[in-house]
Amino acid sequence: MTSPWLREKAISPIFSPRGVKSVAEGLNISSLLRGRTASSDQAQPLRQIVGDEKGQPLRTFAVVSGKGGVGKTNLAVNLSLAFCERGQRVVLLDADLGLANVDILFGLLPPAVTLAHVIEGERTLDEALLKLHEGFWLIPGGAGVQELADLEERRQGLLIEEFSRLDERADVLLIDTAAGLHASVLAFALAADSVILVTTPEPTAIRDAYGVLKVLARRSNGRIDVRLIVNMVRDEAEAQEVGRRFQMAAAQFLNVPVIFAGHVSRDDRVHDAVARQRPLLWAFPDSKAARNVRLVASRILPAPSSEEELVAAPSRGLKGFLFRLSRRVGLGG
Ligand SMILES: Nc1ncnc2c1ncn2[C@@H]1O[C@H](COP(=O)(O)OP(=O)(O)O)[C@@H](O)[C@H]1O
Ligand SMILES: [Mg+2]
Repeated sequence: MTSPWLREKAISPIFSPRGVKSVAEGLNISSLLRGRTASSDQAQPLRQIVGDEKGQPLRTFAVVSGKGGVGKTNLAVNLSLAFCERGQRVVLLDADLGLANVDILFGLLPPAVTLAHVIEGERTLDEALLKLHEGFWLIPGGAGVQELADLEERRQGLLIEEFSRLDERADVLLIDTAAGLHASVLAFALAADSVILVTTPEPTAIRDAYGVLKVLARRSNGRIDVRLIVNMVRDEAEAQEVGRRFQMAAAQFLNVPVIFAGHVSRDDRVHDAVARQRPLLWAFPDSKAARNVRLVASRILPAPSSEEELVAAPSRGLKGFLFRLSRRVGLGG
């Protein structure tokens, strides 16, 4: 089942030193890759994460939508990189069981070690973490996603122990989910500190996003922190209008306050970046969409110094997240 050699092969030629241009100053791609390719380093990633004391527990965000194709995966990837630019240490969990494709956006071959191996106890979480950038790791979910959302009691201890090391050393866990109302998506959304709800201005996408929010509101008794992003907008006015209507409907009919986190313009550069299999923030750091993403990131995760000024749900940390996930909070068993 597990083939250690595949790990090295997870980096495709596209992810080459020349091909990667970092938005962060001084990124050295060879040092970036070193942690993944040398076998002696394979158990290192977590230990390499800057080990300074951190006051805040890790924050968990689930990126969800009603309709597919609204830009969740692109947002999850680029928000992660934008959080990174803001000095956060970010772990992105690719939890879209059907269309797991974060790896494709980075030009990686299908990862050999996934969350499934960790859950089965075959590999450590360290081994499943792919370091893609300074302060940024990817956990390929694979078949483990379903299992994580459906944890048996006997696996809980093992997993909580594995994940608790993340809690100490990373700041943010972002979860890219499948579209719609699958049980695992609801479980992730209800367990996370905050939900990042993505829609486009299309009436179908808005209606489906509202449908998801309705279920989340009911299952959580309205205790849910929701940040709305309107993607692929023509202009800011269109986004404001969608945001305003959505907020009003959510407040009036669901009694849920939705925080409007902003918009990302429809921008051909997103498509171009996908075609190049490089994240937008790396491929086109100055594009309109990239600038939009950074602004959204600054609203969702303000600088530590201004944190207290902003409305934010208190982080329950990773243990709280896993506890809620394993208890299937709000899912009736
Ligand atoms: N802001 C944008 N402007 C233009 N195209 C976009 C934008 N965001 C996403 N896309 C395109 O939409 C498609 C779906 O994006 P993706 O992130 O895979 O959505 P999801 O994960 O919600 O299914 C991709 O082809 C992507 O290039
Ligand atoms: Mg997706």
